[in-house]
Amino acid sequence: PLKVLLKMTVLAGCLTSSIQAFAEPIQIKFSHVVAENTPKGQMALKFKELVEQRLPGEYQVNVFPNSQLFGDNNEVAALLLNDVQFVAPSLSKFERYTKKLQIFDLPFLFENMESVNRFQQSDSGQKLLNSMKRKGIVGLGYLHNGMKQLSASSPLILPTDANGKKFRIMASDVLAAQFQAVDAIPVKKPFSEVFTLLQTRAIDGQENTWSNIYSKKFFEVQSYITESNHGVLDYMVVTSAEFWKSLPADKRTVIKASLDEALAHGNQIAAAKVNKDKATIEASKRSDIIQLTAEQRQEWVSSMKPVWRQFEAKIGKDLIDAAVASNK
Ligand code: LMR
Repeated sequence: PLKVLLKMTVLAGCLTSSIQAFAEPIQIKFSHVVAENTPKGQMALKFKELVEQRLPGEYQVNVFPNSQLFGDNNEVAALLLNDVQFVAPSLSKFERYTKKLQIFDLPFLFENMESVNRFQQSDSGQKLLNSMKRKGIVGLGYLHNGMKQLSASSPLILPTDANGKKFRIMASDVLAAQFQAVDAIPVKKPFSEVFTLLQTRAIDGQENTWSNIYSKKFFEVQSYITESNHGVLDYMVVTSAEFWKSLPADKRTVIKASLDEALAHGNQIAAAKVNKDKATIEASKRSDIIQLTAEQRQEWVSSMKPVWRQFEAKIGKDLIDAAVASNK
């Protein structure tokens, strides 16, 4: 009988382990629109690495870069349909879901990335993570990319240089107003189309960070880049309330901690890339980098800053004041 019992135990043991071995890990999809050699691209890969290391065999994270799976026009809708579980659109792309995040698009609001970070980490900034709750969207954290620069096929030194020129913008009414303020023509287009639009001269220019201008080769088809630092391009990593709630609490904790670490990693890359990608662009000699004098830059500030007034009622004066205060 002892032999039989032993055999049975061994058999039962084999059965359990083979069930475990055959249980498929739960698939999590993370979709984004940028290249892998960017702060967001690297953050997503770090998130994958940490989740799979900490929940081996239980969860698998599949990252889809370069608008491969979903692009600007459908990634948040796909999230709400649970076709993808994590996306990290730029803060400019949430306008359909909340007007509060428009604050980040106000031109010349933040002096530098330290100010942006202070505001995001403040009570007001943290509250904004919940600003799309009623739409079923959960904000899990911010990720930096950096300050935006203006690129064009002709030199932009004074605001009048932008008159009548077509600029690609993200789908944001604030950004539209910003270019209208210098009598330019804003054209809302998804990120995946920018290179071709620039290359074929369908548009004259665009605004973006050094890492996006570099990784998507915009500098190869834009002869001039004005280092304007006129606005910020940052992200919010979001998931759907439906998916987030469906996770067992202990797994959710591990996934959130992994994301927080991945965000810290992405932020380090963002900080390093500003100088690195700018230097690579400069060394390529494909594009002239224009430095504005204080007076020239002030002209852009004077032209674009009236946009704040236009959006003050929707965004909220208190929120704008809080953001200004983060400049210290
Ligand atoms: C853009 O559309 O220019 C950016 O938001 C792309 C990105 O995600 O950095």
